[in-house]
Amino acid sequence: VLIRTAKRGDVAAVTRLLGQLGYPADEEPVARRLKRLQRSAADELFVAEADGEVVGLAGIHVSASLEYDEDAAKVSAIVVDEAHRLGGVGRALLEAVEGEARRRGCALVFLTTAERRKDAHEFYRRLGWEETGRRFAKRLR
Ligand SMILES: CC(C)(COP(=O)(O)OP(=O)(O)OC[C@H]1O[C@@H](n2cnc3c(N)ncnc32)[C@H](O)[C@@H]1OP(=O)(O)O)[C@@H](O)C(=O)NCCC(=O)NCCS
Repeated sequence: VLIRTAKRGDVAAVTRLLGQLGYPADEEPVARRLKRLQRSAADELFVAEADGEVVGLAGIHVSASLEYDEDAAKVSAIVVDEAHRLGGVGRALLEAVEGEARRRGCALVFLTTAERRKDAHEFYRRLGWEETGRRFAKRLR
């Protein structure tokens, strides 16, 4: 598995993966989102390639912190193609995000996950992540 930064040509794959994550969208808006992320110094989107095919993605968002002197990093999204799960791709992606957070000198890397994503919770625990809180959200649109 090769982990690399996402590029414009990945739009179709990113759109497909987003659909599997539960955020179906057309390619056009996804292309716009990709562009915005690429312009953002605080963001990085990684994709995993296996045999030349994009089979997963993970994003990182770094922000200034009031609680720590250093920045904090959030895993902004992570998903592996249904046909490629349980093959180590998710691990490689999450390790890439952790590496990027370290490189950027972050004090902490964290993520939020929906209560219903029990499989993902097992995956995070397996990789040594600790469940430390709850997420509350309010939809504004
Ligand atoms: C969660 C997800 C990214 C994991 O990716 P993956 O490529 O299947 O995970 P890996 O194969 O790298 O697994 C790494 C370790 O976690 C374990 N693991 C993964 N999924 C697991 C599950 N559902 N239950 C128990 N253990 C699991 C693996 O067995 C493996 O352990 P090992 O290294 O000791 O063998 C993937 O299942 C997915 O895309 N799920 C749907 C989207 C989603 O829920 N994303 C998270 C949003 S918060």
